[in-house]
Amino acid sequence: MGAATIRDIADDVGVSVATVSRALNGNDRVGAATAKRVRQSAEAFGYVPNEIARNLAGGRTSSLAVIVPDITNPFFPELVAGVQAVADEHRHMLYLAQDHDSTDATADLITNLRSRQVSGFVVVGGDSRSKQKKLLEGVPHTVVDRTLKDTEATVVRSDNRRGGRIAAEHLVSLGHERILLIGGPSELANSADRRAGIHDALAAADLPILPELEVTGDFLEESGYRNVMALRGRRLSFTAVIAANDLMAIGALRALDETGIRVPQDVSVVGYDDIHLAGYVSPGLTTVRQEIAAMGRHAALLLLDPHRAARNNASLNSGDHVLDVKLVRRGTTAPRHTATQEVSS
Ligand code: RIB
Repeated sequence: MGAATIRDIADDVGVSVATVSRALNGNDRVGAATAKRVRQSAEAFGYVPNEIARNLAGGRTSSLAVIVPDITNPFFPELVAGVQAVADEHRHMLYLAQDHDSTDATADLITNLRSRQVSGFVVVGGDSRSKQKKLLEGVPHTVVDRTLKDTEATVVRSDNRRGGRIAAEHLVSLGHERILLIGGPSELANSADRRAGIHDALAAADLPILPELEVTGDFLEESGYRNVMALRGRRLSFTAVIAANDLMAIGALRALDETGIRVPQDVSVVGYDDIHLAGYVSPGLTTVRQEIAAMGRHAALLLLDPHRAARNNASLNSGDHVLDVKLVRRGTTAPRHTATQEVSS
């Protein structure tokens, strides 16, 4: 026997197909007793509604798509969890795709997902993805985490400039002056903003920006590790490190440990994100907390329930929705005067 249809249920209950459809959609024009019989029959038949067919008349399915660069960075699963929570509340199925920050991959994914009639996209922005912008024209979408240059799209992101500033202010307040910055890719707006915030704090404290202590990573732990190893090889001195995300900070912690540097007695380390793991490394990582899941929730609400999004975030400006960040102090930072010496050899 093939899969049960809505007609089988209608015949079983003795009502019209339209009544079955209304009952399964929760329409209150169907009496409670009939609705109950319809649901029981649907259950007995193992009936699964054909969502795609049901929604094609409206040109869209009840689904959202989220495209992230990298599912191995715990930041993104936490962001997706926020999107998923809202999708679940609105009974929308969620497609998850990863593009490895490749413009061509993003374009292929958008084309593919558009052919599945998804009703909206949550996309992590990039440097300047003209193809992406073009393909998203006419489809509801929100951009998260990074701005997309020259776009009209609504962007939901953290206040990265303030984040960079509070990370550096914390270290400066502890007496650190030679601070190693492991930045993210410079073409990404979030990295550039964090770096600008760090520079703001150094300038406000009359401290010089030291180009030899600014290196670029790729947001993965390996680049935190390799950059610190390379600087240690060059015998450059620093008493603190700011990494533009927690994964690179965790890589840096390992390199410091392997080269005999104690954290925080010799060198302090600050990360960025406050992923779940940040509280479980030892010592716990001092970091800048982004409201990661809230970012995902807000991006999805803007698509599925814009009124609620507006109520939840009254202080946000339309077009650019900026969530606040805060410093979470744990065990990797300490006053410089407890350092036995600058790390120079
Ligand atoms: O793209 C990766 C990084 O950007 C994440 O770790 C998080 O910092 C995000 O803003």
